[in-house]
Parts: sequence; structure tokens; C-alpha cells
Amino acid sequence: MLKQMELTAKKSSIFLIGFMGAGKSTIGKKLAHRLGLTFFDLDKLIEAKAGCSISDIFKFLGETAFREMEQACLQTFQTKDHFLLACGGGSPCFFDNLGFMKNKGLVVYVDLQESVLFERLSKAKKIRPSIVGMDEKQLKEFISNQLKARMPFYEQADLSMSGLSINVNGIVEQIAQFAH
Ligand code: S3P
Repeated sequence: MLKQMELTAKKSSIFLIGFMGAGKSTIGKKLAHRLGLTFFDLDKLIEAKAGCSISDIFKFLGETAFREMEQACLQTFQTKDHFLLACGGGSPCFFDNLGFMKNKGLVVYVDLQESVLFERLSKAKKIRPSIVGMDEKQLKEFISNQLKARMPFYEQADLSMSGLSINVNGIVEQIAQFAH
């Protein structure tokens, strides 16, 4: 059983995980505001550090280099507190990133069903390097396969919430109760 102090510290560092398009950034901003935490977006931090877009990192340096940058950026949160970090969809599935998140704070999974992910992602293909250029069938298959592969990681989150609505009341309550 964690001590009260550790739980309080855990609640002041929140990692939002979930598939691309699940709504982590939108929900994250709202949730951070409600909890009085500073909002960060891991992809944005990587882009700022690299001086180019995630798409260009994938295109010119490849996914392996991106995953290394992602891990390095995540590690910088070791010394931070009172933040909510919206993490890229693949981040908890590489290295021991999920272990790091779980040690440092509270991991919240933003859950969204495949059909809605498909709807959202088919409108935002250009800005997402993993799905750019896919037709409908390929995108459906990609979402289904990736979700299956990533579920064992996402399921290890401390709490989960639906990405369908940006109403954060339910999860705010769950976070508040997490210490009891
Ligand atoms: C990725 C998700 C993206 C971004 C990169 C790879 C993934 O983040 O990190 O394009 O592997 O699922 P979002 O989940 O914020 O779109």
C-alpha cells in the first residue's frame, strides 16, 4: 500500500495514454485545467527539441530514431511535478516507458472504439505519419491490428475514461478517489 504522500505526489503527475485520435490532447488540456496541472504534449515537445515535425522525423530519420527521441523526452519528466502529459499513441509500448510513467505518476487511458477512431483518423491522415497514404481498407486494418497489439499496454493504466466526450467530471472524481 502506498503512503498518502506518495499517492498525493502520484496524482500531481498524470500521463494520458491511448490510441491516435482518441482525444488525449483535447481532453488533456481540459483535465489539466480542472486539476490545476500544467499541460504538456509529448509530440509537441519532441518537435520543439528536434526543430521539425513528427512527420519529418519519421520521414528522414525513421521510427527507431523517433522512439529514442520520444523516450528521452519522456525521461525529462522525472524531475517535474504538477503536470499532465498527453503522450503519443505508441509511447507506452516502447522500452520501459510505461514502467516509467507508472512509477512517476497516475496513468490514465483514453479509450475509444475502433469505428470512431476510424472516422476521426480518416480525416486526419495527412498529419499522422503512420497512416499517411492509406486507403479505407488499409486504415481499418491498421487500426484493428495496432489496437490489438497495444491493448496489453493500454490496459495497464491505473484508470480509464472514454474519449467520446470531453466531459472530464467522471475522471476528475476517480482521480480524487484514487488515494482512498
Ligand atoms: C504515434 C502517435 C502519434 C505520434 C506519432 C506515432 C503512434 O501521437 O507520436 O505519429 O505510434 O501511435 P498521437 O497519438 O498524439 O497522434
